Amino acid sequence: MGGRAGKAALREGRKPRLGDQTTLAPAEVPALDWASDLGYEVARGNIANILKEHGPEPAPERTRKTTWKEFLRRHWEVMVAADFFTVEVWTRTRLTRSLLIQWRYTGWGVRLPASPGTAQQKGEALNETAQFELWYERFNRLAGDLYPGRYSRDHVRDLAEMGREIMELARRKGSLIVAHNYVYPELQEVAEVVGDSLGLSLFVAGRNAPRVDFCGVWFMGQTAKIILGDRSKVYMPDQPGCSLVDLVDHRRITDWITRHQDGVVISYVNTDARMKAMSHYTCTSANAAQVLEHAARTHPGRRILFLPDKYLGAVAQALARVNPNLVDLYDGACHVHARIGKEVAEKALARQPGAELLIHPECACSALITSNLPPFKDAHFLSSEQMLRYAATSAAKEFVVATEKGIVYRLRKECPGKTFYPISDNAVCEYMKMNTLEKLRDSLRHDRFEVEVDQAVRDKAREAVERMLTIH
Ligand code: 13P
Ligand code: SF4
Repeated sequence: MGGRAGKAALREGRKPRLGDQTTLAPAEVPALDWASDLGYEVARGNIANILKEHGPEPAPERTRKTTWKEFLRRHWEVMVAADFFTVEVWTRTRLTRSLLIQWRYTGWGVRLPASPGTAQQKGEALNETAQFELWYERFNRLAGDLYPGRYSRDHVRDLAEMGREIMELARRKGSLIVAHNYVYPELQEVAEVVGDSLGLSLFVAGRNAPRVDFCGVWFMGQTAKIILGDRSKVYMPDQPGCSLVDLVDHRRITDWITRHQDGVVISYVNTDARMKAMSHYTCTSANAAQVLEHAARTHPGRRILFLPDKYLGAVAQALARVNPNLVDLYDGACHVHARIGKEVAEKALARQPGAELLIHPECACSALITSNLPPFKDAHFLSSEQMLRYAATSAAKEFVVATEKGIVYRLRKECPGKTFYPISDNAVCEYMKMNTLEKLRDSLRHDRFEVEVDQAVRDKAREAVERMLTIH
């Protein structure tokens, strides 16, 4: 069912049906009586996502009187997210609660500033002492256990001083600073927006800043450049790689394409610009299953190569309605998430028995978790950005976070009433941690390291990204 069906349903105040999608602006959203009947609360024009989950319903007996339609209706949960630009409808099955499906991706440039940023961005210029006091208290309270010994008084004093210079340089140079969820807290604080890899690129695409300073890893800066083209210069504090990106052997891919002339290539966004240019579609950790299913439906009978992450690929394959015999999974893995196997997850859940597991599908244990067996029955596959949205609205109070631990700072900051535990102290990406405030300051001072992508590669890669964005 297409986007128009979802729109029509919302306009008429009807409950969207399974599979409906919508991009209605909140101003267009009518009373949504069906939502309030179900106990949802939908706020118009409220920048914070409002997401209230439909309370549990007793599962019906599947007797002759229960039609399949009724059975499915009762077993699906619908969640509504309203923000300043769009309304999203998410669904998941009651039977397999871990399968969370986002039916509508927010689209070009409409992903919201995920983090409120620092006091400076809100126009309250703090003096040096106040800045130091704020950061010293906040970093130790929210990230002291994540980075033991990092936030001494002397170090935070240096950080606060650099932070002030960075804000001033960014203002003078018209720079938009954005930071990935995994970078150090001080970088998240100076950034105007904190988010996931694709969300940040879409955000900068909607802003037309002459300069973007991207704190993340190199492929993310490239993705921003692919989307921005010549409109903005993109700089990064350093040139960090990514183990997933580096594992892709372009010759193997070329061989596969030669052997399967009508084959379809799907690349996770964690690939370099050249790989994206060789692909039919890109996908993110949030929509891999939808892209895979779409590719299989649009190109029936054709072989599909999914790369580079085998764990994400396995989860996507388990969630999508595709013929597994027609899908080849590349055997790549991220070294950080590959360390998060079954045992690590079991131990973390044993330490926090009441917690829900928020799990990035790149984790080595993710394919097992699709089985939905104890202790993984409260596990949720989420991209880094979806973790924020989910945690903010879940009734649960405690969460084990199975991804790079940098995101825990943001989760704690934005969901103050809840408790977040990193799944392991080892869940650290050295590449992400190559970003520092000092390097960002130097990058702004000396205009380095600029991300450039060859025009022809950029155009081809952009096609693959755009094709993904049309899939709902
Ligand atoms: P996201 O797309 O969720 O930001 O993840 C990127 C990444 O590098 C995961 O390790
Ligand atoms: Fe790459 Fe893994 Fe680091 Fe993400 S966590 S940037 S996938 S190496």
